Amino acid sequence: MPSPLDVVVVVGSLRRESFTRRFVEGLIALAPPSLQIEIVPIGDLPLYNQDLETSSPPAAWQTFRTRVKRARAVLFATPEYNRTIPGALKNAIDVGSRPYGSSVWAGKPAAVVSTSPGAIGAFGANHCVRQSLVFLDMPVLQQPEIYIGGADKLFDASGQWANPATRELAVKFMKAFEAWAVRLA
Ligand code: FNR
Repeated sequence: MPSPLDVVVVVGSLRRESFTRRFVEGLIALAPPSLQIEIVPIGDLPLYNQDLETSSPPAAWQTFRTRVKRARAVLFATPEYNRTIPGALKNAIDVGSRPYGSSVWAGKPAAVVSTSPGAIGAFGANHCVRQSLVFLDMPVLQQPEIYIGGADKLFDASGQWANPATRELAVKFMKAFEAWAVRLA
């Protein structure tokens, strides 16, 4: 059996009790065994500043770049801040994209999921991520689209999916993402 495909998840929320991270943990639990999935931390990345792009850039940037570079596919999971993506996620995208010509994102298969306690499921943020992925040259899974509304009610008190239909969608999504990643990695 081939070794599992190394996948990183970039979670756009830094919040301890993040609904987005909780959703990602639910996705990871449903992932096919052919995927080895890890959340890559972004909270300690200094704000992108080209002046720091010297022969010794910030250590946190280097750690992040090295980890993402090793991955064969990337899942972006974002909440929505003011109808766009949180600054921390945009910063991580920018850090990984430079120095020019050495982007760690280029060519890696990707997917985007978004969550909100509100009804629209962070549609705006989801498509903001997709806008950057065009420039980053990342082929992005198109279907199924994942805009998760009511993200604060996804799991019951025992940690199980509260709505079987959402779980079913999550399973379908992970299967599609696996096929996409395996095909393009
Ligand atoms: C929000 N929130 C929010 N929700 C939404 O659906 N659309 C939006 O535009 C915004 N805007 C927004 C701005 C800022 C600065 C904050 C802090 C929050 C609410 C947001 O969905 C909610 O706080 C989620 O719980 C954030 O995701 P995590 O941290 O739970 O993953």
